[in-house]
Amino acid sequence: TASLAFAAVAQDYPNRAITITVPFAAGGPTDTVTRLVGQSMSKTLGQPIIVENVGGAGGTIGVEKVARGKPDGYTLLLMHIGISTSPSLYRALRYDPVKDLEPIGLVTDVPMTFVAKKDFPPKDMKELIAYVKANKDKVTYANAGVGAASHLCGMLFMSAVGVELTTVPYKGTGPAMTDLMGGQVDFMCDQTTNTTPQIKGGKVKAYAVTTKTRVASLPDLPTMQESGLAGFEVGIWHGIWAPKGTPKPIIDKLVAALQTALKDPNVIAKFAELGTEPVSQPRATPGALDAHLKSEIAKWAPIIKKAGIYAD
Ligand code: MLT
Repeated sequence: TASLAFAAVAQDYPNRAITITVPFAAGGPTDTVTRLVGQSMSKTLGQPIIVENVGGAGGTIGVEKVARGKPDGYTLLLMHIGISTSPSLYRALRYDPVKDLEPIGLVTDVPMTFVAKKDFPPKDMKELIAYVKANKDKVTYANAGVGAASHLCGMLFMSAVGVELTTVPYKGTGPAMTDLMGGQVDFMCDQTTNTTPQIKGGKVKAYAVTTKTRVASLPDLPTMQESGLAGFEVGIWHGIWAPKGTPKPIIDKLVAALQTALKDPNVIAKFAELGTEPVSQPRATPGALDAHLKSEIAKWAPIIKKAGIYAD
């Protein structure tokens, strides 16, 4: 019967490679998290995990691809906070992240950092604020498109400081970082998973972290609060999803593999080097991700409405 065949498919799962779509360019923060976690999940599941980078439009192209994907457990998505801001930012999104995706679990929360090209004149965050106000017609801000974490942080910064800057969108902050180091753009706010090696290597100038408290791996960087922008706080959560309708026995296997990956000493060590840590086990569950996504959509909608930023 159909249900027996269905159970057999789930029992067999996985019997071939699994693809995780990263909705940003290779070499950036989402890609880094996905490759680390994916490598460990692959060991548990006994099949290769292929990372597919589908960048563009702040991540919405890649998310849509998975939302329309086959619900068979071989197509997955790793995306961040942007999945909850895009529904408010885009006038006509062609998917609903709550209705069209099956949550697997939260993965990690990543702090952000304000970084600039090496020869950018301001020495600290106070000077940076004064500088962008005085030079608003020539300063450029890099981001990964409307809906990206770097877009959200930039939007909050510009509204806190009261300036409108020229933004330069990329398919991910991997390529944006290359241009920042090359001096083609002035500054950006990007996740520690991408900026830590460049900050430590002295390849970019760093100003502040966006979390409430300092980040252990970058102890010299002050918080925004310490830099005079009281209340400025943003952290970038990540989750894993499958297309809606993926059978529960398959989701259960993926949840177990995710939870194992988040306890993997190699994942924990690499995350720590990059300023982050895995979420606790109760958060690496479908229920926790579902509730978090809904509450984040509700949280960001009025903030985005007030900022008045929309894309088509
Ligand atoms: C990326 O992987 O490129 C980033 O997460 C981009 C961003 O959201 O700022």
